Amino acid sequence: MGVSRRGLLAAGFAALALPGCGGGAAPQAEPDHKVEVFSWWAGPGEKEGLEALVADFAKHNPGIAFDNAAVAGGAGTIARTVLATRLQNDDPPDSYQAHAGRELTEDIRAGYVEDLRDLYEEQGWLDKLPGGLVQAITVNGAIHCVPVNIHRSNLLWYRPQTLASLGLTPPATWADFLTQADAIAKRGLTPLSIGPGWTQKHLLENVLLGVLGAQTYAGLWTGGTDWSSAPVLAALQVFTDVLARSDVATPAGDWQPALDRVVTGSAAYNLMGDWADAYLRTKGLVFTDGYGVVASPGTDRVYNFLSDSFTLPRGAPHPGAARKWLVECGSVDGQDAFNPQKGSVPARIDADRAKYTGYLAAAVAEWADAGTRVVGSLTHGVVADTAWNAKIDTALSTFVQDRDAVAFARAVAAGRTVS
Ligand code: GAL
Repeated sequence: MGVSRRGLLAAGFAALALPGCGGGAAPQAEPDHKVEVFSWWAGPGEKEGLEALVADFAKHNPGIAFDNAAVAGGAGTIARTVLATRLQNDDPPDSYQAHAGRELTEDIRAGYVEDLRDLYEEQGWLDKLPGGLVQAITVNGAIHCVPVNIHRSNLLWYRPQTLASLGLTPPATWADFLTQADAIAKRGLTPLSIGPGWTQKHLLENVLLGVLGAQTYAGLWTGGTDWSSAPVLAALQVFTDVLARSDVATPAGDWQPALDRVVTGSAAYNLMGDWADAYLRTKGLVFTDGYGVVASPGTDRVYNFLSDSFTLPRGAPHPGAARKWLVECGSVDGQDAFNPQKGSVPARIDADRAKYTGYLAAAVAEWADAGTRVVGSLTHGVVADTAWNAKIDTALSTFVQDRDAVAFARAVAAGRTVS
């Protein structure tokens, strides 16, 4: 059944409703000569994107020094722990990275982030972002973050020369993948490379999406799909079958080294978001000749989206400079400087499409296509809050060991926080 991009986005977020934000003493503002920005864009393929955004920020704000507080580690798994301690200790940076969607739920409830609605109105952003995205970040009429991009989670990366030597073309379904995997393993290659826990969750969400379809996948997060139903248990079984064809026994340390196994030809495929496009370019590879990508099995014409955004923490030492940083993040110039480097498409609908080439030309077109179905990523903060995600992480690390789908489904359903 077809679901429109706006419809699905709306369905995923309609239930977001939170109590009012906590109070707090008025910040003691320092002069706005610098801005400390906290992110996890420190590794190859990510830092280049941040650098491009910072260079454009410096052009518009020559008097403000940029203090880069990035903490390395894919998907922010390490950074977000460091950040949580800083926020609890009343030591916020001037702005921090967060995913648009439910990831900010707890921070909003704790009163850690300011409402930016006035900035949206001042900058005229409300009709420059997709309606579904604005809805996703609006909580009780307030907006607490500025989206800088749209990433796609459901992509399968490969090297054409590796597939040619194996006589294969990318699989359209997970059943196709499993058939291919036996042939790939016989040739001494790893069918699918994988990294740490968050990359395993990233694989899980996209196997569920590919086997269950967009509508049923979306229901996993809104309560519309029963985790213990036969189709979900069967999809979890597919996940364990796929994982058994990966190098999960000796996982790579992060997403870049997992992709390296594809680059060097020791693995055939890697399932990763389109930040992989930026990373593969840093390796000197050129799209279509040096690397290729398809929608992950079973997800053709579905965009499993996530959006990087920035916030204004309550008590930020340099709120004026922080607002200028946010203006940069929300601007056409900023987004068109950042996204072509980062491997993402602009969150704004009026950015300059001509700046997006290679893989990104197709991504921009597919994101804008009214026929593309949009669902939200679990791993990257769209559909579940941090508390539910943490419970899923714990259950998943057990599931990866014991492969007990029934127990995993029960644990995930029990961990759901309705916010
Ligand atoms: C995601 C983030 C992306 C990229 C990726 C790998 O959570 O949204 O921008 O950085 O992690 O670190």
